[in-house]
Order: sequence, then structure tokens, then C-alpha cells
Amino acid sequence: MAHVRRQNRTIETGIELQFLSNDDNMNNKNKTTDQKSALSKYFAYVKKNRSDLIKNYGDPHSICHNIIDHPLLENIPECARFLFSESETDDLNYIIASTYALLIGDERRRELSAYFTPPALAKGVIKASAPFLRSKEHPSVLDPACGGGSFLTPITRYLVNKKRDNGIAVEEACRTTLRDIRGVELDPGLAALSQSLLKDMLQRTYAYTCGPKPEIVRCENALSASLSQRYDLVIGNPPYGKVGIGVDRTYLKNAKLANLGGHTNFYSLFLLKSLDWLKPSGGLVFVLPTSFVAGPYFSGLRQEIMSRADVLSIDLHEQRENLFLGAVQDVCVLTLQRRKSGASASNRQHPYKLGLIDATGARIVCGTGIARGDGEPWTLPVAQRAGRSAPHRKSPRKATNHEPCARFRRITSC
Ligand SMILES: C[S@@+](CC[C@H](N)C(=O)[O-])C[C@H]1O[C@@H](n2cnc3c(N)ncnc32)[C@H](O)[C@@H]1O
Repeated sequence: MAHVRRQNRTIETGIELQFLSNDDNMNNKNKTTDQKSALSKYFAYVKKNRSDLIKNYGDPHSICHNIIDHPLLENIPECARFLFSESETDDLNYIIASTYALLIGDERRRELSAYFTPPALAKGVIKASAPFLRSKEHPSVLDPACGGGSFLTPITRYLVNKKRDNGIAVEEACRTTLRDIRGVELDPGLAALSQSLLKDMLQRTYAYTCGPKPEIVRCENALSASLSQRYDLVIGNPPYGKVGIGVDRTYLKNAKLANLGGHTNFYSLFLLKSLDWLKPSGGLVFVLPTSFVAGPYFSGLRQEIMSRADVLSIDLHEQRENLFLGAVQDVCVLTLQRRKSGASASNRQHPYKLGLIDATGARIVCGTGIARGDGEPWTLPVAQRAGRSAPHRKSPRKATNHEPCARFRRITSC
């Protein structure tokens, strides 16, 4: 990964992934004030007029399809007209998926944990997964809780572009890439929507029309799904929240030491299940709450992870508020590599890279942490938020690979 110095910060540029997106100018930093304000006005409008929109235009799924096919609907507010016509592909897809999440109502949204990854963070997560995407000519990729496809669509574009750069014709590049991309999603409307958004991107970007096969996104409960294939990369942002007392006992049994009964978090179950879906040496890159890094309730999860995989990096996102629409949450990006064979974790420990992801998706290098296999806490860089706002940027000390940034403190207990 290449590095540049910008404002005294060491930032991984991800230069080799520049062709990841045709929309590279769409990060938060470059977004105009107009776009940001249009976005918040638009989301407020959808939330407030939910019942009327459904009465006038049909169910959430039909409304979102209408936006894909006819983005300039009549009788929509100016902010929506502006966003639908000015937004780049990944931004627009995020807007459409979030429209769906708002239209299904708060209760269903909470039940699904339908809080989608914004494009700038998705870009940072995909950069973290670059070694696994580059490791093979045809890497296979799974998002087990794919929502609106915030990872599936940009990864598909990246892989198609990579093949085209290697001289493969566009038709062949699209066809072979689709063979290896899969999503699972519990909600039928979202499963159909994410598949439509991906196909729409292929049509608009490459004039490639997909047939009904392959089915890219399966509508299924990932925790009970049996997938025959194994993947080079499992990427995602799984649901967070406790499983509750009514949960299927077999999910908990599979979690072994991470099983806390009804207090077990869904993301622990997704993580362990996803490790089983990886090929040996395959990579898992997940957006997760920071609680598992040092929390005492996650001691068993840390042991289970260490018995199956190596921790490569943990990157904290510096933004807690205004990252997810309608939710306040500390998150980090965890990158694991599945080991070739399982091993006892108790006396295992190894270093991993620490980083900080900023609002644009760029990664700031922050030294190393130690992953222990005995359940003891791991380390995380913590942004010293003044009044819970983003870390101040004046006079940062230069960070190296061996030393944490002065702006961060390391935590070794919860
Ligand atoms: C936090 S959202 C993330 C979606 C998407 N990966 C993203 O990052 O934008 C979690 C998604 O998981 C889906 N989901 C919840 N429970 C699931 C389950 N048991 N199996 C599959 N998908 C599930 C939800 O409908 C929601 O779309």
C-alpha cells in the first residue's frame, strides 16, 4: 500500500485501487454543502411523508424501483430532484437503499438493523480488503447481510475494471465477475433491491444486460443458510444487537465460547459463521461495533476468532455521530485472515496493525496492537474526542508503524 504525507499525517492512499470507483470524487470531503443539506432535507422529507408516499406510489420496494427507473418523478421536492440528478452511482444507491430503510418504518428497520454503510466508509472497507481481491484472477466474494449492496456494487465494478485493464472484453469481464459475487439478505425487498442496483450499475456503466441467472443475492437468513461455496473474501456490516431469548439454539451452539445465551450479539454469530465460509487464507473484513475489542463479554469471541484466524488490522472510525443515518455508534473495521487449520488459541498472540479511518474513508496509520488468544482485551486506537466531536487536527505528532499517534491513547481494558 502506498503512503503519502498530507498535513503531517501518514495516510494510505490506496493508489492501486483508484479505479475502484468511477465516482472517486464523491467522498464527504468533496461533497458540496448543497448536497449535504439536500440529503438531510430529503431524508427528513421521506420520514415525515412516509405514509403518503406509500399511499401514492406503492410499497417501499416499488418506490425505490421507481427512483431507479425514473429518477425524476413528478411532485417530488427540489432536494430530491437535485440528489437524484446530481449524485454519482454509489451515493445514489446509498440514498435509494436508505429511502427503503426509512419507508419500512422504525420498528422493522430496528429489527433488521437496516443502517447502511455510507459510500466513503464502504470505500475504506474495500481498501482494507484489497489484498484478498488482488490475490487471484477471479476472487470470489460474499456479503452475508448485503442490505442495498453497498459493498457488492463497488466491488463488482472494481473487478470488472481490473479485468478490462488486463485486456478482457467487457462482456466477458462482467459475466465472469458476476459468477463470483454473492450476497445474502433476510429482507425480500432489500434482496431484490440490491440485485437491481448492481445490475443497473452494470447496464449504465458497461451497457451490460444481465439475465435472471445467476441469482446474485439470495433472500435467506444467513445464520441458517448452508452455502456450498467457500469464498476468498467475506465482507460486510452485519446486524448488531442481542439475539434475545427466542433465538434458534443451534446458532448459539455454533458460537461455542462466544455463546452468551440471549445476550449474544448477532454480529458475533455472523462473524463466526462467516469464518466458516472462507477458504483457507481467505479474508474477512467487517464493520463492527468496537465493543468486541476489549469488552469482558466478548472474551469468548476473541478466543474463538484466535482459534480460527489471524487478526491483520483493526481500524477505528473517527466519526461516531452522523455516520449512520439515524444511529449513533462507535465502529471499527476488523480484518482477519482465516488460518489453514484450526488451532488452540489459549497461548497464541500476535501483532496487528492499528489505524484510524477518517470521514473520507482514508486510513491513518497508528502503530500496532497485540491480539491475544486467552480472551484478554486487545488494543484499539481511541480518538480523543473533544466533547465527542471529531479529533482536532492541529499539530498532530507524526505517526509511524511502531508507535501510536499522540492523538490516540491505547486501551488495554474495557
Ligand atoms: C447493518 S445493515 C448492513 C447492510 C449492508 N451490508 C451495508 O453495509 O450497507 C445489516 C443488514 O443485514 C440484514 N439482515 C439482518 N438479519 C439478517 C439475517 N439473519 N440474515 C441475512 N441478512 C440479515 C438487514 O436486513 C440489513 O440489510
